[in-house]
Amino acid sequence: MKTRQLLTILACSLLLICGVDAPAQEAPTAGAAPASQSTAPASQGAEPASQSIAPASPAPATATTPPRSALELKLPLESKSVRFAVIGDSGTGDTPQFEVARQMEAYRQVVGYDFVIMLGDNIYGGHSAQDFARKFEAPYKPLLDAGVKFYASLGNHDNPDERLYKPFNMGGERYYTFKKQDVTFFVLDSTYMDPVQLAWVEKELRNSNSPWKICYFHHPLYSNGKFHGSDLDLRTRLAPLFQKYGVNVVFSGHDHVYERFKPQNGIYYFVLGSSGQLRVHNLRQSTETQVGFDTDQEFMIVEIKDDKLYLQTISRAGKTVDSAVIQRQPAATTASAPAN
Ligand SMILES: [Fe+2]
Repeated sequence: MKTRQLLTILACSLLLICGVDAPAQEAPTAGAAPASQSTAPASQGAEPASQSIAPASPAPATATTPPRSALELKLPLESKSVRFAVIGDSGTGDTPQFEVARQMEAYRQVVGYDFVIMLGDNIYGGHSAQDFARKFEAPYKPLLDAGVKFYASLGNHDNPDERLYKPFNMGGERYYTFKKQDVTFFVLDSTYMDPVQLAWVEKELRNSNSPWKICYFHHPLYSNGKFHGSDLDLRTRLAPLFQKYGVNVVFSGHDHVYERFKPQNGIYYFVLGSSGQLRVHNLRQSTETQVGFDTDQEFMIVEIKDDKLYLQTISRAGKTVDSAVIQRQPAATTASAPAN
């Protein structure tokens, strides 16, 4: 009996052990992607970001605006002049963008500029409300709080729906103009330069009687950036119009460097594509380069009074890397009479 009982106990134990097997895992249902998979929209264009677009790296809480005594102002600050700042390829949400923004605020407190032009790639990566907050509203909060207006152009990393984002002041359009005293700004969408836009910009330039005509858009007609360089196709289409209708200055970004060109057919071209991004040592200066800088992020401040444009380009570290005075070129003589 004892042996029988022992055998029975052993048999029951074995059954119990077999009965506690984990239940078989359910096979995944076709098409049901895990909730954790990213659904962020792909960026437009084929340009890889030169710096990783890391999760939020907001400015340290202890960071402060540089003191006035640290500033090295090159603008004359004449009465009733037009004053603005220029940024390009800014929207990373990373620390350098915040550091540039702090320099911008320091100079705003002295210069009193009241608007900023944006040369595209305003928001890299995703375009959720949180992205706009982290890559635009947070870094430029002091400027926005002071009433500074931003006028954006669209880059290849931007979503065309940015035109509907009120703080970019695009009036819902991919391309538009606005005027400040003697200066008219022509803001283009160089990612999609279709015939309709080309006809539009020619009409706007022809009808403008502003002494100063400034165009800005993302892809540069002239650039010695090694990563992209000049957009020759765009130059073929736009440069003849700029010459014909007396455009004075053209700002672009896209290459993450700074470059000021010697006048090309009388027009001053700038590349300023590193207010957030940066490609260190990516500039191969040519004989056409007036000034180049590719070792830090930067922004520019501009003052226009009568027939002079004063500019100062300031690095993230607060160093003045370029300053100049541009004399307004004589009005183009070949421009057609204004259309009826
Ligand atoms: Fe770009």
